[in-house]
Amino acid sequence: MPGCSVNHQETNSDVENKVKNLLASMSLEEKIGQMTQIDVAVIAAPEELNAANPIDQAKLEDAVLNHHIGSILNTPYTPHNKAQTVETWRKMLQSVQAVAAKSRLKIPVLYGIDAIHGATYIKDSTLFPQAINMAATFNPELSVKEGEITARELRTAGLQWNFSPVMDIGRQPLWPRLWETYGEDVHLATVLGTSFIEGQQGDDFSAPDKVLTCLKHYVGYSYPLNGRDRTPAWIGERTLREYFLPTFEAGVKAGSPTIMVNSGEVDGIPGHANYHYLTTILRNEMGFKGFTVSDWEDIKRLYTRDKLAANEKEAVKIAVMAGIDMSMVPLDFSFYDLLLELVKSGEVPLARIDEAVSRILLVKFEAGLFNPNPQVLPTKENFATTEALDTNLQAARESIVLAKNANHILPLKKESSILVTGPTANLLNVMNGGWTITWQGDDESLHPQDKLTVLEAIQKKATGKVTYVGGDSFDKAIDIEKAVAEAKNHDTIVLCLGEKPYTETVGNIDSLNLDQAQINLANALIATGKPVILITLGGRPRIITSIAEQVPGVILGFLPGMEGGLAIADILFGDYNPDGKLPITYPRTTNGITPYDYKPIESYEQNTYHPLYAFGHGLSYTTFQTSELRVEKDKINSNEAINITVTVKNTGSLKGKETVLLYVNDVAASVTRPNKQLKGFKKIELNPDQAKNISFTLTPNDLSFIGVDLKRVVESGDFKVIVGNETVNFSIVK
Ligand code: GLC
Repeated sequence: MPGCSVNHQETNSDVENKVKNLLASMSLEEKIGQMTQIDVAVIAAPEELNAANPIDQAKLEDAVLNHHIGSILNTPYTPHNKAQTVETWRKMLQSVQAVAAKSRLKIPVLYGIDAIHGATYIKDSTLFPQAINMAATFNPELSVKEGEITARELRTAGLQWNFSPVMDIGRQPLWPRLWETYGEDVHLATVLGTSFIEGQQGDDFSAPDKVLTCLKHYVGYSYPLNGRDRTPAWIGERTLREYFLPTFEAGVKAGSPTIMVNSGEVDGIPGHANYHYLTTILRNEMGFKGFTVSDWEDIKRLYTRDKLAANEKEAVKIAVMAGIDMSMVPLDFSFYDLLLELVKSGEVPLARIDEAVSRILLVKFEAGLFNPNPQVLPTKENFATTEALDTNLQAARESIVLAKNANHILPLKKESSILVTGPTANLLNVMNGGWTITWQGDDESLHPQDKLTVLEAIQKKATGKVTYVGGDSFDKAIDIEKAVAEAKNHDTIVLCLGEKPYTETVGNIDSLNLDQAQINLANALIATGKPVILITLGGRPRIITSIAEQVPGVILGFLPGMEGGLAIADILFGDYNPDGKLPITYPRTTNGITPYDYKPIESYEQNTYHPLYAFGHGLSYTTFQTSELRVEKDKINSNEAINITVTVKNTGSLKGKETVLLYVNDVAASVTRPNKQLKGFKKIELNPDQAKNISFTLTPNDLSFIGVDLKRVVESGDFKVIVGNETVNFSIVK
């Protein structure tokens, strides 16, 4: 596995010998314990005890000494998970490892935690824009920094395994976890996701300031036909290999040592029962050497939900034999007990157990868990630092999309009088989404009071009158009459709409339409004749067409994180020149969910790609122009790379950043090809009148696709390269 070795002197074979020797000394019970992961709730004291260390020592010893548990996850008091202080985490983890050190073989416990946009469950951590927003920055360097900072903050608490990044791609806008993805495009998600892994792991994830990542949710989880979380995805193998596997393949190549499995089902087979995906593809094709972990209770669900298994014991057998190495059980020892029976009865071969345990032990050795004196990072230089804050603010700024700016209504003058209203104007939770301090991220009272909502940031920056009409919770009805009356006394209206936080099935909806109350408020304010700046916040592109077409300014915030309020105000008043671009297609209608890389048949006769805002759309307060698009030659062989150059110029009056997007169209092939696919992007900052010539290289892999025989192929034929308004051609000759 490319990850690392415990220390640079050790070679992989040294580590592999250590694994072999340890495995040989383990009892069957100790082996199966390594494959068992429980939620911290199983070993936690009752919340009402309000202990400085929430661990119940007796329960912990029973789990680790009697059931030989090898992994624990989550923050205390499931399902009402909440963030704990660094000190509490240190106490919890020290007590867990102290008991592990009392066990016969002293195998350390690997503790897993969700930290998908910063250290979710560490109080006062740096909480970044969510993945959908990081994708909108089109800035891999920011993703590396987010990974580095999150790794350091986790390690100050002693946490070392992050259930992140999500490598699913987001092509179903209804899905309540769209915002946890890097958007609809394979290339963008690959670059941003592997950049995050680079930041988290560096070249040695046993380093004291690095953590292990976990690619999730393997594979095809993000594309449920009806858009509801954990419902069937109808994905054929060619589509799977073209759109859903490449990000995971890139994550494996980037050295991620663990993979979490899809909780749904693809093409009739639950993710946790799919030998073809979990073993044939992941192991035999991709060569993944780490271990797979189930998602929450998903082995049990092969019986309780999917009716694939006749009972829980059969569910364990199916999952382990399909290729699941570790079970997130999570709330009891059933997996441990049942697998023990299965091995003793010969229904599950010991060889399969040894294979799974070897993978887990290899990762534990490579993570440095066996080092006698694990380092816990000092908080002062590594937790919630000024550098982290500055990086977070910059990421938020670059993640926000200016979608419309008619008559240059934006930026606003600071001295103008502004009415601020709408359900997302004065909340932090609407800018952070799920996995924020609590699982659903909806407890505003737990959000840090020193961070600014959109309203508070406007009030801080503006020098004119700012009036707020609205409530202190998302669902509190807004007095429309009062808002309309106030509108008449102000120059401009800032209307903040969108969604409240959610994740997983809790966020399932039946339509992308905004709720009627928000539409009524918008229509009433538009009717006043005052200019309205629409700001949307939330995890999905809710339908805003009728509003967006009537207002002069539209800012798409999605989930910009804890610095989102300040970032939005910076853009509103021109203290930051916006440069975010959409990583998803913004639909015009609820059923207008055609992605940007649509097939020719989707733009034929009445079929058209007619979104409200296209993938890659995003305005600036300046203007940019690309020109002189050139391809180095007009013919190449199928095993050759080809260089492309283009000039980009800042043709406006303000300094700004522009992301140049390079698309490729394979004109005709044996499998229908998208009208265009993103194959390169570069973000550069230019002063007014400054121009830069930038180059891209297209590799054979960039020009390949999954052929009729389900194998990746490069076919001869004509290709187009599209940048901005220009197109150049080249051909592949045999
Ligand atoms: C959840 C999520 C997964 C998360 C895991 C542990 O069900 O699907 O993304 O990492 O449980 O919290």
